[in-house]
Amino acid sequence: MTALSVRGVRVVDPFAGTDAVADVYVDEGGRFAQPPAAPDTAGEIVDGRGLWLVPRVADLHVHFREPGQEHKEDIGSGSRAAAAGGVSVVGLMPNTSPVIDSGAAMNRVLGRVAQVGLVAAWGIGAVSVGSQGARPADWDTMRGAGARALSDDGHPVASSRLMAAALAFSAQHGTPIIQHLEDPELAHGGMAHEGAVAARLGLAGMPAAAESVMAWRDVGLLRAYGGRLHFAHCSVPDTLAALAWARAQGAHATGEASPHHLLLTDDALAEWHPTGMAKVNPPLRPAGMRDALRQAVERGVVTVVASDHAPHAAGEKGGPFAAAPFGISGIETLLGVLLTVFHHERRLTPLALMGLVTAGPHDVVGEPYAGVVPGSPADFTLIDPDVSWRVDPAAFQSRGANTPLAGHVLYGRAVATVRGGRFTFREGQVVS
Ligand code: DOR
Repeated sequence: MTALSVRGVRVVDPFAGTDAVADVYVDEGGRFAQPPAAPDTAGEIVDGRGLWLVPRVADLHVHFREPGQEHKEDIGSGSRAAAAGGVSVVGLMPNTSPVIDSGAAMNRVLGRVAQVGLVAAWGIGAVSVGSQGARPADWDTMRGAGARALSDDGHPVASSRLMAAALAFSAQHGTPIIQHLEDPELAHGGMAHEGAVAARLGLAGMPAAAESVMAWRDVGLLRAYGGRLHFAHCSVPDTLAALAWARAQGAHATGEASPHHLLLTDDALAEWHPTGMAKVNPPLRPAGMRDALRQAVERGVVTVVASDHAPHAAGEKGGPFAAAPFGISGIETLLGVLLTVFHHERRLTPLALMGLVTAGPHDVVGEPYAGVVPGSPADFTLIDPDVSWRVDPAAFQSRGANTPLAGHVLYGRAVATVRGGRFTFREGQVVS
């Protein structure tokens, strides 16, 4: 029996590689279904004309802050923010307090996400105990508890020896290592991109090379030890060159861009000065680097866009700049920024564009999903690809209102999210 159908919708399905207007049916078991052959109770009918239906939108990189910093975000508020952002699956970074570095902690956090039930999660376990960069965490046990990747995000895996061991583990088990690229000695307390804007505002600079030398070290280790390596939030041209080089050698390297690095430049630091609203790590870069990142996405060097959703409490980002934590609350603007940068100016086809938040991240974690085909779980987002809207952090579901996009106009957004055939977000409301 049909439970739900979306009529006349443009199905943009990067998993199946199809882009066509169709009627989409969902059965009572929450799976995509064939159109009914005989009379059927029609179930709920949704008019999809003018909308895109995109299956299984994934945000590979989010910080939900539970346990330990629930005043910034907890799994409930983070899950609501995901639903409102049109996201069906999140990659949960382990830099909570304490860090997710054991099987028990992994079990707890994944159990909480399942209990809330608004979004699916790919657990990401720490590479090192406490993400302190010294001793390896218990990778086997975390993997047994459902970890889909390992990362010390927020910090780099600076030790070459530890990264070599992690890649060897990855080669054996297929678990990807997600690296936050930062050479601590070069970054040396920097808080903004080292360049003209930081100099003018008197902010401690972090050179572009702090990111890219780590990328080149890591692709060298990847060649030597094998495994799967994913670069989080790539932001400088030489990182992209390392990624392209590694792939040309046949190594399994992937890379992600964050929406803020694709949209903004370090001019945002001046716009928000003296607050820390635009303070993020890696830092916002000058226009030339931002444009190189866009090109890397357009050329397929970067195959994932992920929000790096980093909510912080009200007041923490208010200034002075040096005292503010790094991070931008971004899961509710992920699709809007992506559509603004690449669809509004018709730089990418809908299929290529949506691949960055669907098939791209699924490939990184090695998760199979068939897309909009009968029998496949009906997880999808309805997107109005051209509607203009103004970012109002006060209307976020997230506890983090910290975004330098406040007041900016974006083009395109999620209008509904469906998980297992059930709406989790519609008409501006989260449905729990
Ligand atoms: O800006 C950032 N914020 N970059 C990171 O790597 C970590 C994140 C956070 O957890 O707040």
